Amino acid sequence: MIATKLMIPGPVELDDEVLLAMARPVMGHRTPEFEEVLEECWRLLGMVYRTKNEVAIITGSGTAAMEAAVASVVEPGTRVLSIGGGKFGERLGEIARCFGAEVSRLEVEWGGTFSAEEVDEALSESGAEVVTLTHNETSTGVVHDAGEVGRLAREHGALFIADAITSVGGDVVETDAWGIDLCITGSQKCLAAPPGLGFVAVSERAWERMQEVRNRHAFYLDLLRYRKALRKRTTPFTPSVSLIYGLHAALKRIERETLEARIRRHRALAEATRRAAEAMNLELLPEREHASNTVTAIRIPEGLSDADVRGRLKEEYGILVAGGQEKLKGRIFRIGHMGEVRAGELLSLLACLEQVLRCSGHGVKPGAGTEAAREVLEAELGESLRACGGG
Ligand SMILES: Cc1ncc(COP(=O)(O)O)c(C=O)c1O
Repeated sequence: MIATKLMIPGPVELDDEVLLAMARPVMGHRTPEFEEVLEECWRLLGMVYRTKNEVAIITGSGTAAMEAAVASVVEPGTRVLSIGGGKFGERLGEIARCFGAEVSRLEVEWGGTFSAEEVDEALSESGAEVVTLTHNETSTGVVHDAGEVGRLAREHGALFIADAITSVGGDVVETDAWGIDLCITGSQKCLAAPPGLGFVAVSERAWERMQEVRNRHAFYLDLLRYRKALRKRTTPFTPSVSLIYGLHAALKRIERETLEARIRRHRALAEATRRAAEAMNLELLPEREHASNTVTAIRIPEGLSDADVRGRLKEEYGILVAGGQEKLKGRIFRIGHMGEVRAGELLSLLACLEQVLRCSGHGVKPGAGTEAAREVLEAELGESLRACGGG
């Protein structure tokens, strides 16, 4: 069977409103009509980012936005502290190295997190001018304390780059209050917009630093070009007009749902998933207190393989969940409950998961997972599970 239901941590399924918006005729990108759409996107991005900072819209996936953020403030010899702990956190350090930075690593166990003391010490030892962190580490299902890193970065006079690609629009991200100088996100995750757009919210401090960088090695991804265009209320290069229509429709949906209700829905879905996993005798990869609210990483039980879980979900029920990456390949599976996912969809997935586990020989009491999840969803979102975010 071809998987038709996406329950992966992006790209996520798009609402018809978003799909239809992308079918509109393409318009000139330097016209007042298009500039009106862009203006609305910037206003709504400020709302989801919780920022007054300007937001650069980049045509490219999330990694393009990561590269733009790093390349714009780093030059050969810049001291960067890269906080690791998963595939994406490590990627920021790799990008910095590509641009000649002297990168120190704060190694974090995959599935674990760090303490404030460790960050403080690493910042002192490295004398870092820039610190990088992936807020919600999608590869391990861990949400890190970005607020604490932001506070410590300020204390040490370092610029803070945060990859919030799988948290903006789905969990609490306080770009301004946490002091994130370059806050990165992507379109195809919690925003539930089409894949292909990346965003960076840039603080005044970061703009200032960019002007001091002498050895500039980026062109398309040099954020100073975006700043110049932003001040003329446009984009530096031809934007992907159709994707921006889709983004606009997706952001309007968030505004209607309200960011607060959307975060509440994501948190309820995450808690329901964790409770269901426990009720099905499954083990979460991270400790509960720093488990992500947008993606849940679960260990594949002893004696079962990736094919027994993910393979069967796809073949027998047409549902796609994500596998482990790199060192976690074949050891975990990851359920994405971000974007437009509703209570009913999560309950269906959990019922199918329970069935494939039972058929593969894992001991589960029938109905245990869905019942545990239903209890959470009902308590958090009200008696009618349709109230889970509305339509
Ligand atoms: C936390 C995080 N950072 C970065 C990326 C890379 O984004 P993209 O694949 O859009 O380039 C992803 C993608 O899954 C991600 O989850």
